Order: sequence, then C-alpha cells, then structure tokens
Amino acid sequence: MIKTLTLTRPDDWHLHVRDGAALSTVVPHSAAQFGRAIIMPNLRPPVTTTAQALAYKARILAAVPHGAAFEPLMTLYLTDRLPPDEIARAREAGIVAVKLYPAGATTNSDAGVTELRKTYPTLEAMQRLGVPLLVHGEVTAPEIDLFDREAVFIDTQLIPLRRDFPELKIVFEHITTREAAHYVAEADRFTAATLTAHHLLYNRNAIFTGGIRPHYYCLPVLKRESHRQALLAAAVSGNPRFFLGTDSAPHPVHLKEHASGCAGCYTAFSAMELYAQAFDGMDALDKLEAFASFFGADFYGLPRNTGTLTLKRETWTVPEHFAFGEAELKPLGAGETLGWRVI
Ligand code: NCD
Ligand code: ZN
Ligand code: ZN
Repeated sequence: MIKTLTLTRPDDWHLHVRDGAALSTVVPHSAAQFGRAIIMPNLRPPVTTTAQALAYKARILAAVPHGAAFEPLMTLYLTDRLPPDEIARAREAGIVAVKLYPAGATTNSDAGVTELRKTYPTLEAMQRLGVPLLVHGEVTAPEIDLFDREAVFIDTQLIPLRRDFPELKIVFEHITTREAAHYVAEADRFTAATLTAHHLLYNRNAIFTGGIRPHYYCLPVLKRESHRQALLAAAVSGNPRFFLGTDSAPHPVHLKEHASGCAGCYTAFSAMELYAQAFDGMDALDKLEAFASFFGADFYGLPRNTGTLTLKRETWTVPEHFAFGEAELKPLGAGETLGWRVI
C-alpha cells in the first residue's frame, strides 16, 4: 500500500478567494498546496476590466504568506457589454481567461450574460486571440428542473456556441453530470472540463442525510450516484481535457446556515487531501499527478510547475472552523476524518 505520494506542485484551475478580510484566511490555505490558481471574478461588483483585475491581483498577492510562491491567474467577468477591445488589453496584461455566468445562475451572477448572442463580438476577439472562455454551464429558466440545468445547458447553449466558435477554447467548469463528462470526452482539443473534489466524493444524499446539511449545498448542485461515478471515471481516465478545479467557494457560516443559504463548499484547506481520497477510492493514485499538475497547465498553454507537494497516508480531523473577517468559515467535512494529509 502506498504510504506517501509526491507530486509536481499542483494548480487549482477554479477558485474563489473573495476580497477584503476574507483573503487573509483563504489565500494562505490555497498557497500552502497550489502553485497557481485561476481566480474567479464574481465579486460585488464583478471584475469586468483589466484595471480591476490587476488591482484585485495585487490584493491577493498581499495575502500570500512570506516564503510561499503562489500566482493568482486572473479572469474577467463576461457581461452583455464587455467590449471586444478589452480582450486584447486583458491578454497584454497577463489575464488568462474570461468567465461566463448565465445571469442568475449562481453566487453574484446578476450581472451575468442574459443572452449569449449579445457577447458574440467579444467571443470573436477571444477566439482570435486564444483567450479561453470558462463556463458556469447551467440554464436558469425557472421551469427547468434544478437537477437538469447542466444537461439542458449543453443542448441549448453549449452545442450552438461551439458550432459558432469552433476554435474558441472552452472550459466547462465544475461538471456534475454524466452528460457533461460525455460531452467533453467526445469533444475536440478546444474543450476541457474541471472537476471539483466534492462532486467526486459526494452525491446528493449528502445534502439531506439526517436533516438538511447546508455545507454540502453548492451549484451546480450535487447529483445522484450514477453521475458521481461518471465524474470519477473521467477524473481517472487519463484524458488530458479533464483537470483539477476545486471551486472552493467560501461563505460565512451564518449565510450558509440560513433560511436561504448561499451556494458553495469551502474545500481549499484540504483540497489535495480530498482529491487523494477520491483517487485512492478508485485505486488510481497514479493518475492524480497528471490530473492535478499537468493537464490544466497544458490546456492553458502555461509551463508546468517545478516544485513538489507530498501527501502522506495519515488519519486526521478537518477543523471545525476558521476566522473569516468578523465571521466564521466552516470547511467541507468539518469534524470528519480524512485518510491523506499534505506534509
Ligand atoms: C460559487 C460562489 O459561491 O462564488 N458557488 C458555488 O456553489 N459553486 C459560484 C460558482 O462557482 O458557481
Ligand atoms: Zn459556477
Ligand atoms: Zn466557482
């Protein structure tokens, strides 16, 4: 039985770190494990200009502990009116991608896209300049069942989008269904997907076991077991277009444990431990390094990291909470034990 596992330093290709006082809690957690992370732009107000993204990057860097090397990779938030010429400016400034939130789909998505057609001039510029589009892939129409929103998005939005922009790099973020895993597996080299640790480890029963458990509520919502199995199969398949993106999404405890609780699981503190648990469960620890440390960098056209990260087989208990500005932050699986630990 493998006792330790040393990987090339991994990257997180989908991360929320928020802003202000929250940064000093969550940025050190990610920096302890990952070399780089794609920073989501869904702040209030959203990050829609290159200047805002660079200022946000500086605030994140200020929260990186001394001696840690962690590079935030910045993104812009796509709106109906993001000007096409902002794309060249962004690329010049080292911004790596643009994020599509369908309006109303998730946390801080009110300023998101109401109709994809409206963004076509901007997507045209992105395709031309090789800037990837990162997609929260869910339709928002209230008549569509919550559990079907990702599958319907593929048919009604993604397939036409791909037809109209055959060479636009698209990352289908935090996929949760067999349909999405199948779509990406069948797609060409311009389409990839990120997989979260929580969608690999839990099915929707987790939200309802012994009472309603808001810390397991995220979007897209956890699905039934057969979907989880399809995601696990994709993660360990060795297909380079499936890679790690935690979607660690911190919210204060009092807004998670609320009559209308926020969507998002905080996983950054034990991210690699959670992924190791999932891969170990599939007897596929040998597939973890490429998934966590190679495939994302290759898709984005960035160099792979040079340092390493070591995990040890060891039982430990996830802490109950962290300070989070004036509030508290509860990590996913608080108080539960994990079988791997970063050393
Ligand atoms: C994310 C957040 O809180 O910003 N929440 C979530 O449930 N995943 C937004 C997102 O990634 O959709
Ligand atoms: Zn999302
Ligand atoms: Zn997210």
